[in-house]
Amino acid sequence: LSVSLPLSLSLSLSLSLSLCLSASVSLSASVSLSASVSLSASVSLSNNAKVAVLGASGGIGQPLSLLLKNSPLVSELSLYDIAHTPGVAADLSHIETRAKVTGFIGPDQLDAALKGCEVVVIPAGVPRKPGMTRDDLFNTNATIVAILSDACARACPEAMICIIANPVNSTVPITSEVMKKRGVYNPNRVFGVTTLDIVRANTFVAELKGLDPARVNVPVVGGHAGKTIIPLISQCTPKVDFPADQLSALTGRIQEAGTEVVKAKAGAGSATLSMAYAGARFTFSLLDAMNGKEGVVECAFVRSEETECKYFSTPLLLGKNGIEKNLGLGKLSAFEEKLVADAMAELKGSIKKGEDFVVNMKL
Ligand SMILES: NC(=O)c1ccc[n+]([C@@H]2O[C@H](COP(=O)([O-])OP(=O)(O)OC[C@H]3O[C@@H](n4cnc5c(N)ncnc54)[C@H](O)[C@@H]3O)[C@@H](O)[C@H]2O)c1
Repeated sequence: LSVSLPLSLSLSLSLSLSLCLSASVSLSASVSLSASVSLSASVSLSNNAKVAVLGASGGIGQPLSLLLKNSPLVSELSLYDIAHTPGVAADLSHIETRAKVTGFIGPDQLDAALKGCEVVVIPAGVPRKPGMTRDDLFNTNATIVAILSDACARACPEAMICIIANPVNSTVPITSEVMKKRGVYNPNRVFGVTTLDIVRANTFVAELKGLDPARVNVPVVGGHAGKTIIPLISQCTPKVDFPADQLSALTGRIQEAGTEVVKAKAGAGSATLSMAYAGARFTFSLLDAMNGKEGVVECAFVRSEETECKYFSTPLLLGKNGIEKNLGLGKLSAFEEKLVADAMAELKGSIKKGEDFVVNMKL
């Protein structure tokens, strides 16, 4: 019903629906973060997804787990980390929503955390400090992501895997290669979460044009690091125009928005709250699509045939089995075509670095 209605109408419908149905649902509608999130949460009451967060005690993991606990789409929430999960799980478990929260700590409990999960979200790993690139995280995070992906291959080989840990341009190939080694790789089920780039692009465009950010949609393609982040402002809805110098500055700000946060946090880490929001938005879209909602589209960094790069982010139509259709790059402006061309060498290098890591790793 809501899909075919104008957004304002379907939102008010979903809010009133939730109010009649139960206290926990009306809570989720009233505190949810955007029209699309509350909308999706309130129309899927019959859902029973088991979702795991790996790295659940971290700066992203905790607020992400809170948002997932607040969703009626989730019936079981499995929180895994190498530290602090008993406390995080006890705390979240007192929230009056139906998701059953269980904490798991340390490698001995990893497989139990993953058993039966339909969706696994991975924000485990170290974040950047000022002066670092995402690639500087490779040595630490590559091992963490490989170990966690290997556990997914063992304990929940059919699950959708959503990778937040950086460098995403390498960690997605790492997960894919690990799954391949274990003989359970399904390219339609492995996603690098780039949603924060879209969220940022929407916000910055809305600020410049005086629009409501919840109604702006800028596809962001390519990868998730510096110049591999390619906002397609020419495909923004509603349509917006910028003079060349402003377009170039806006593009640069979107590409370096993560660094803006790293600098402002001055050594205390990178984006956590906005990333938790973005991770929840992506997870809810995926759960909606898995539950049969039609027309759900999100960008993500995935195995791709759309360019000469083996992995590339483009808008994806999501469905019951993950990626239903890759919607591709669409029509690019000359400016955007150059951005894509300029990103290729770095992207290919990061992808190869991830693949080589698994070849040389003893699993
Ligand atoms: N995709 C994106 O857009 C995006 C945005 C921001 C941050 N990130 C990345 O997300 C990751 C997490 O960032 P954060 O700020 O939450 O960091 P954090 O240090 O606050 O939290 C990381 C958590 O991972 C846990 N951890 C470490 N090794 C683990 C293991 N082997 N198994 C399970 N858990 C383990 C830690 O105990 C900690 O709780 C970083 O790699 C960061 O670069 C990605």
